[in-house]
Amino acid sequence: MPSFANPFQGNVKGKMSNAELMQALRLDIASELEAIFLYDAHYLATDDPAAKAVLGDIRDEEKAHVGELITLMRYLDPKEADSFFHGENEVKEMLEELGMSDSDSEKAINHRVGSLKED
Ligand SMILES: [Fe+2]
Repeated sequence: MPSFANPFQGNVKGKMSNAELMQALRLDIASELEAIFLYDAHYLATDDPAAKAVLGDIRDEEKAHVGELITLMRYLDPKEADSFFHGENEVKEMLEELGMSDSDSEKAINHRVGSLKED
């Protein structure tokens, strides 16, 4: 949620180390996820086609920001990137156990994204 009461809340004194920047990026990602949640809630709460188009577009831009921030984190801290890949591989193994290939999950993901655009 916005916190306009303190205009200096987000200011950082001096330069951050990469470890401090990683902490800041986690907070930035949380803010992006909250924005996605709010825009999607408002998108779902209206039938106005213009409002749906604008809110859906903004919501999807916030999703891209999450991807950018995660990619930056992978660059700044390759050790953390290993943890991301570990989690990714765990899900891929689960999908294999369920008889779903990677390409099946990609199709499912694309289908869901496409379905949102059709609303
Ligand atoms: Fe954003």
